Amino acid sequence: MSETKFKDIARQIEQRIDEGIYPPNAKLPPHRELAAELDTTPATISKAYKLLAEMNRVESFVGRGTFVVGESHLNQAIQPSESETEFNFSILQPYVLQNLSPLRIAYQKASLAFTPELLAYTDHSGHHAHREAGAMWAKRYGLNSATASNVLLTNGAQHALSLLVETLTQPGDVIAVEALTYPGILAIASLAGRQVIGIDMDEDGLIPSALETVLHTHKPKLVIAIPSHQNPTGITMPIQRRQAIAAIIEQSAAYLVEDDIYGFLNEDTLPAICHWLPEKGIHVSGLSKAISPAMRCGFVVAPEHLLPVLNAHIRANVWLASPLNFIVAEQLINSGDAFSMADAQRDIAKQRQAIAKDILGDVISESDGYHVWVTLPAHWQQERFVMEAKQRDLIVTSGSYFVAGNTNPNCIRLSLMSIKHSEALKQGLRALKALLESHEVSLAPF
Ligand SMILES: Cc1ncc(COP(=O)(O)O)c(C=O)c1O
Repeated sequence: MSETKFKDIARQIEQRIDEGIYPPNAKLPPHRELAAELDTTPATISKAYKLLAEMNRVESFVGRGTFVVGESHLNQAIQPSESETEFNFSILQPYVLQNLSPLRIAYQKASLAFTPELLAYTDHSGHHAHREAGAMWAKRYGLNSATASNVLLTNGAQHALSLLVETLTQPGDVIAVEALTYPGILAIASLAGRQVIGIDMDEDGLIPSALETVLHTHKPKLVIAIPSHQNPTGITMPIQRRQAIAAIIEQSAAYLVEDDIYGFLNEDTLPAICHWLPEKGIHVSGLSKAISPAMRCGFVVAPEHLLPVLNAHIRANVWLASPLNFIVAEQLINSGDAFSMADAQRDIAKQRQAIAKDILGDVISESDGYHVWVTLPAHWQQERFVMEAKQRDLIVTSGSYFVAGNTNPNCIRLSLMSIKHSEALKQGLRALKALLESHEVSLAPF
C-alpha cells in the first residue's frame, strides 16, 4: 500500500461528507464495500476512517460501524423548550420551583461574605473552606475518605469528567463505560479522540464478568460508571455489586471514575465504589442535580498521587472554578440547608415516580430518581416514537443517544422533574400513554 493512498481516500470521503452525500450522523459503508467501490483494500479504508476520526469528522463504535459526526448527541438528548405548550421530558434537573427562594436568599447572604481574598486570584486550586464543604458533601453521600486535602473543585460534573478523561488518558486510548450511559461522557470521548467500549449491564448495573472481559481484551485506561440512579437506566448498584466492581478494578491497570452526581437520591446512603479504591478510584459529585445546574459546583475526590496533575490541568484550563458560587455552596452545606434542599428534591422525585408508575404502568424502569427508562412496545421504534411524540408537543429522549455498546435498546428516557406543575405532568404522561398504545400511527408512512 502506498504511504499516502489512505490520505487520498480520506480526502475523497471527506468531500462526500462536505457535499452531503454522507450526511451528519449517517453510517459510512462497511470497509469491504467502500474498498471495492474505490478500488482499494479494506485495510486502506480502515486507515482512512482512523484518520477521519482523528480529525473529528467521523466516529467509530465497536460493533456498530463508523458514523459521520453530526450534531452532538448531548445537544439532541437535552432539548430546551421552544414553547409554553410543550411537555418537556428531556431535561434531568432539580425541580426549579422548590429551590428558588432558598437559593435567592443564599446568594444574598453570600454577597455579605465577600472579602478581598475571595475576590482575588488564589495560588492553589480553590479555597480550603470550599474544598472542606465539598468533602462534607461527598462524605454525607457515601465517601468517608473525603477531606479538604483530597477534594478538587470543578465547574460542574461535566468539567470534572472532561478533566479526568484528558489527564488520565491519551488520544486513541480506550475508555470503558456502561453499555448505556450519559451522552455527556460520549461527547467528551468523541471530542478528545478517545475510543469508547461499552460494558454489558444487568438489573444491578455493570456486570462484573463483562467488566473483566473488557479490561482483559481492550485494556482501557479508565472505566467510568454511574452507580446511583444511572443515567439513563435508573439502576442503582447494590452494595455487593459495588464491592465486586471495586475488587476487579483493584486488580487491573485501569482507574475508576465514579460519577455519583445522583448519589444524594439514595434514601439510605450507599458506600461509594471509591470507598474500596483509595488509590484507583476518583469520585465525582456536585450540586447540579440537588440544588441547581446553574451553580456549576462540582467536587472531585481523588487519590493523593493524582492531585498534582489534576490541579495543573484545572489551572491550565480554567485557572480555578468560580469561587463566588462556592461561597454559596459552602454556606448551604455548612448550615445543612443543602442537605434539606436535596431531601426535598428526593421527595418530589418520589411523588413524581408514583404518578408515572400509576399512569404508564409496567413499561417504566423500577427507579425512584429523576427519570424513568421506558421500554417501548414492539410496534414502536424509538426514533419514530420520538418524532411522533414531538408532533404532539411531547419532548422525550431516544434511547439511541445513550448507546455505547452493542445494545439497541428501543427505549426512551423521560425526566419527571422538568415540567413545573404536577397536573401538566399527568397530562403529558397520559398523552404519552395514549401514543404508546396507539397502533394506527405507527403504520403511517415514516
Ligand atoms: C450522569 C451525569 N453526569 C454528569 C452530568 C453533568 O452534571 P453537571 O451539570 O454538574 O456538569 C449529568 C447531567 O445530566 C449526568 O446525568
